[in-house]
Amino acid sequence: MAGTGNFSMNIICIGAGYVGGPTMAMIAAKCPQYKVTVVDINADRIAAWNSDKLPIYEPGLDEVVKSALGRNLFFSTKIAEAIDEAKVIFVSVNTPTKTFGEGAGKAADLQYWEKTARDIIKASNSDKIIVEKSTLPVRTAHAMERILNANDKGIHFEVLSNPEFLAEGTAVEDLKKPDRVLIGSQLTEKGLAARQVLVDIYANWVPKENILTSNVWSAELSKLVANAFLAQRISSINSISQLCECTEANVSEVAKAIGMDSRIGPRFLNASVGFGGSCFKKDILNLVYICEGYGLHDVARYWESVVAMNEFQKKRFVRNMIRVMFNTIAGKRIALFGFAFKADTGDTRESPAIDVTMQLAAEHANVVITDPQALDNAAKDLQGCGDCTKYVTFENNPYEAAKGAHALAIMTEWNEYKTLDYERIYKSMEKPAFIFDGRNILDHQRLYEIGFNVYPLGKECWKHF
Ligand code: NAD
Ligand code: UGA
Repeated sequence: MAGTGNFSMNIICIGAGYVGGPTMAMIAAKCPQYKVTVVDINADRIAAWNSDKLPIYEPGLDEVVKSALGRNLFFSTKIAEAIDEAKVIFVSVNTPTKTFGEGAGKAADLQYWEKTARDIIKASNSDKIIVEKSTLPVRTAHAMERILNANDKGIHFEVLSNPEFLAEGTAVEDLKKPDRVLIGSQLTEKGLAARQVLVDIYANWVPKENILTSNVWSAELSKLVANAFLAQRISSINSISQLCECTEANVSEVAKAIGMDSRIGPRFLNASVGFGGSCFKKDILNLVYICEGYGLHDVARYWESVVAMNEFQKKRFVRNMIRVMFNTIAGKRIALFGFAFKADTGDTRESPAIDVTMQLAAEHANVVITDPQALDNAAKDLQGCGDCTKYVTFENNPYEAAKGAHALAIMTEWNEYKTLDYERIYKSMEKPAFIFDGRNILDHQRLYEIGFNVYPLGKECWKHF
């Protein structure tokens, strides 16, 4: 077995993305006694982790990485070498929705996952603990164990499930003080021993009562169910936002009123143009696919409706814009404020802004996109969308984006959009000037007083005609 040098244990993570990078940086920062190496096939990403400009924007992450980089935290492309040295191997590769073959559009694409399993077998010369960090279909650990333990080297691999619950934009705080860390294992002697190794790693900074253990299948399934429940709350309040618009009820007041019921709770009740992010949709569709596989079609339909409501909300937002702007937006300049799927991240995966932009471009509106962190990703997302090439431009400065626009649409709840000089913006726009607040973050009455026609979500509009 390879040595650990001055460190008490070698831990590695395969996959240096939004989860692998921050999670491992936190372990390294909190546990200087371990050597933590993060490996990836993407050499550019690894180079960025080793540079001054990290590959992802996440508040507070620079400091955490800096505190450990080169001391006990390393980013590398030498995957086989790292595997050979490691006792504990986290696997945090991407598990997107399958786009081809059986289960296309719903099932998880496990090709990256299985490839790592084969890399692990090839490079290993000693027993290892494999930790599923990626979000996976329930019972994947079973398949993983069968693949790994079919090796002819006499090596034993124990597979644990340790799903990640961090949210982007708050990843550092979520990792520092997680609501819970969930560790699923087999309930065999070897399974329980492996589980204890992982419990001991987290116990370096997470209170024992927040470290939850379960069987492997419960841990795997809990991750999918947590995301499904969170997304369901958003779809629920978004469905009510439309009813509010018809009845003069105010969705924020309704959310506050129901959220004060301690059984419901106040969080994840902000009506929006729709939820985005790389995981909610993919994980619910994966849950739907699994249910269908067990013949649970009614259960599948129930969860599928959460995604359907989200798709509807994005469409409804644009339809409303068209209706309000006199049933035509062709040739009108529309500034989208924000493109990231939420504030404090540059991530745009599944951002509702993508769909909104495509719909607006299909109507031949001239869309100008501004965002403090996500413009590079936005340009990549819209590449190859025919209408977008012709009708979409990008602008760093929101004041420039708004100049000459007929309408602004708030897509992302960036704090800086709350404090812009809207009088200046109003003066620079075409009249009548419209604001569609897809996040309900602005002071609607004040905007109205400036002269805007204001269309929030789930609330009465403020209009001058
Ligand atoms: P990501 O795409 O940002 O990162 C995955 C990384 O894995 C990429 O850099 C890719 O190059 C690398 N990779 C793929 N195959 C590889 C291989 N064979 N060897 C080495 N590296 C390989 O993905 P992410 O957002 O970090 O998500 C990873 C997993 O965590 C997913 O299953 C996701 O569902 C889950 N998750 C994500 C979040 C989130 O906030 N993004 C939160 C919780 C859970
Ligand atoms: C989500 C979960 O919150 C994490 O626990 C989970 O680990 C992660 O998915 C994952 O598995 O990837 P994330 O997608 O990063 O995290 O961000 P969220 O804060 O959950 O927001 C998701 C989307 O819902 C965003 O578009 C956000 O704007 C939207 N949202 C959120 C609303 O529209 N309304 C709300 O009240 C809350």
